[in-house]
Amino acid sequence: METNLQFRLAARPVGMVKDSDWQVVEEALRPLADGEIRVKVLYLSLDPAMRGWMNEGKSYIRPVAIGEVMRAGGVGVVVESKSPRFAPGDHVAGGTGVQRYWTGAADDKAGHFHTIDPQLAPLTTYLNTLGMPGMTAYFGLLEVGQPKAGETVVVSGAAGAVGQTVGQVAKQLGCRVVGIAGGQDKCDFVVNQLGFDACIDYKNASVKDGLKQHCPQGVDVYFDNVGGEILDTVLTRINLKARIVICGAISQYNNTTPVKGPSNYLALLVNRARMEGIVVFDYADRYHLGVAALAGWMKEGKLKSKEDVVQGLTQFPQALNMLFEGKNFGKLVLQVATA
Ligand SMILES: NC(=O)c1ccc[n+]([C@@H]2O[C@H](COP(=O)([O-])OP(=O)(O)OC[C@H]3O[C@@H](n4cnc5c(N)ncnc54)[C@H](OP(=O)(O)O)[C@@H]3O)[C@@H](O)[C@H]2O)c1
Repeated sequence: METNLQFRLAARPVGMVKDSDWQVVEEALRPLADGEIRVKVLYLSLDPAMRGWMNEGKSYIRPVAIGEVMRAGGVGVVVESKSPRFAPGDHVAGGTGVQRYWTGAADDKAGHFHTIDPQLAPLTTYLNTLGMPGMTAYFGLLEVGQPKAGETVVVSGAAGAVGQTVGQVAKQLGCRVVGIAGGQDKCDFVVNQLGFDACIDYKNASVKDGLKQHCPQGVDVYFDNVGGEILDTVLTRINLKARIVICGAISQYNNTTPVKGPSNYLALLVNRARMEGIVVFDYADRYHLGVAALAGWMKEGKLKSKEDVVQGLTQFPQALNMLFEGKNFGKLVLQVATA
């Protein structure tokens, strides 16, 4: 008989997540009630934000409770349905959680399941460019970054899920785009495959010197995925009225000491610049517009979507930590099953 396998949060991590922070539970699948569906999870989205959801404290979303199935986005296929909204065989995206099967009400608010078309794009693309990271890049860049043609846009985490789309969209808008990424391979990829103008390998070169060299006109938009020292260094190169999009600060997520804020923040004053946060969920009612724009560019061959797929649900703990070690090359996805 098919069973469900779940990763539940066992303890609030201190620093990097350890195996003992998870409880792995295998149990029988319960029968469906009226209005419910069962989704077989095919791919899970592994996101840096998951580390934050494991912490106690106020944030833009409630923390995952101890004993609760770990929150995650995913794509899957409906295998049973007692709801007129979905039929067996429908492919869906939604908040599946880290488990083999999701079972619940078809209109569950947290699950927020919607159908996706596997003919239009590979399923993993719905967790990347046509999913949450793509929406973050699109709305974060356009609404908060507000780049204009001819301006210089710098993006950190450049080869990652959000970063790859930020840079490619900025190129479509006629900007000069400079990425910051860890390692020559990632830098070569964003320049040679994605069309960035330049990339600074922050692990092997000085970000300060790289910005001087590759941003001769200064920085108009900085899309920050990493925080910490890189943010502080970019602040020294910003232009008058620059916009800094605070999307994430992955360099700080596993800190056991307080988050390191930018000491160069007075550059905002001197340059009458602004720094503004973005939370992708705020744009949920306009995702269809973002998806249409990005899918259009993909169809025209102007936008690429790179995913890094790790096999097997039981690999979840090790796979999640890859994000914080820079071991993922593209959007990190965990394959749970084949259709
Ligand atoms: N605000 C929102 O609504 C929202 C939504 C989605 C994502 N985000 C944020 O966006 C950022 C990127 O997310 P993603 O899903 O696109 O992840 P990702 O870039 O695909 O993967 C994480 C990457 O971060 C880099 N990294 C890890 N530790 C680092 C460190 N100490 N210093 C500098 N870089 C480091 C690594 O790349 P390198 O090899 O290049 O170091 C790693 O591959 C995260 O901060 C995430 O929390 C925010």
